[in-house]
Formats: sequence, C-alpha cells, structure tokens
Amino acid sequence: MPGPEILTAEQRYGDPAGYRCHLLHAEPDGAFSVVTMVWRPGQATPIHDHVTWCVFGVIQGTENEERYTLRDDGWLKQAGTAVNATGDVTGLAPPGDIHRVRNAGPQTAISLHIYGTDISRMGSSVRRIYDLPILAGLPG
Ligand SMILES: [Fe+2]
Repeated sequence: MPGPEILTAEQRYGDPAGYRCHLLHAEPDGAFSVVTMVWRPGQATPIHDHVTWCVFGVIQGTENEERYTLRDDGWLKQAGTAVNATGDVTGLAPPGDIHRVRNAGPQTAISLHIYGTDISRMGSSVRRIYDLPILAGLPG
C-alpha cells in the first residue's frame, strides 16, 4: 500500500461539510476506476451498496465498517463490523454488500478504492441508499 504522499494536499483535505471523494483514474475501456475518499473524525457514509466489486485499502487513519443484511420485512439487521487500520486491504462484491463506513478515529482517514466500473461515467459506485429502520443489537 502506498502512503498518503501519493495524493496532493487538495486530495488529502478533509472537508468539514462531509466526506469527500476524488477520482484519480478511470481506465479508458471502463474496466475499473481508482478513487480516494477522505473522512474527518466522525464523518460517515450513508448505508449503501454498490453496482460493482470494490477493493479498498486504508492509507491514513482508521475506518470502521458496519455491514448489514436486508430482511424480508424491510428492516436492516447489522451483520458484522470491521475495523480497518492503516495498511489494511479488504474488498466487497455485490450482492449482499450493504454497509456504512465511518471514521471513528481521532485523525483524518483516507482510503484508496478500486471499483470495477467507470466512475467518471457512472458518477458513483453506489447502487442504493438504505434509509430503513435498523434492528437493535449485533448478531449472536
Ligand atoms: Fe461502500
């Protein structure tokens, strides 16, 4: 994994208004895109899933991930959590990739994401935002 020095100061900037995404590269044939995301402490994505696979690694700080399943009754149930520290690499592949990513650490978090689509054409990797009630409690 590279460090945050591969990014410009502008790309590393954490916006007080919300987490930010920067498209670094879109492969001309649409096969994949490279995106960086920057979270200030406490910032989080909405609960969402994706149109394509993603591999992502943390290059600064720590990112907490909550994974969910969608029940037949329309409620979300938390299916697990992960703490991804600097240097950790993980991935996801739809379907069943409903999650939320949050910077629960004290410093700005930055991650690199590779998505299997052309983000410059799609605008986003997000398939759907889930604004649904969540069952309390963790599995088990
Ligand atoms: Fe995501």
